[in-house]
Amino acid sequence: MFDLMKIQIINGPNLNLLGVREKSIYGNTDFETYLEDLRKLYPNVVVEYYQSNVEGEIINKLHEVGFSFDGIVLNAGAYTHTSIAIADAIAAINTPVIEVHISNVYKREEFRHNSMLAASCKGVIAGFGMDSYRLGIESILIKR
Ligand code: DQA
Repeated sequence: MFDLMKIQIINGPNLNLLGVREKSIYGNTDFETYLEDLRKLYPNVVVEYYQSNVEGEIINKLHEVGFSFDGIVLNAGAYTHTSIAIADAIAAINTPVIEVHISNVYKREEFRHNSMLAASCKGVIAGFGMDSYRLGIESILIKR
């Protein structure tokens, strides 16, 4: 038997309110519903999900999975633009991290144009709605 590939999705602050929050930007779907569809798309991949509004908890999760999982899809929400501590955590672990955003942050306020995390990540995907997470998974599955 071969081991299934393991991918961790981490959502940061306010992303527990997807489907409720600023629907014109983030859409009508809550993450749990989207996750069901995502898992069906990848029956041979273990897709774990974690959400926290707390910076330190996001860091703890990165440490927990960052030496054993095959990839991490991280939407750090507003911490993307502020958190040196999350950037350091990404740099400290072995598992590649893909930074994702639902919205096209470059079309929005200037403070969203800067990512503290991007330089420590394998790549960045932004602006494809919830599909940004699927594209994040695809980028992990395509081994280079
Ligand atoms: C976001 C973009 C961030 O600027 C914002 O703070 C979020 C969500 C996105 O997915 O588009 O909370 O990461």
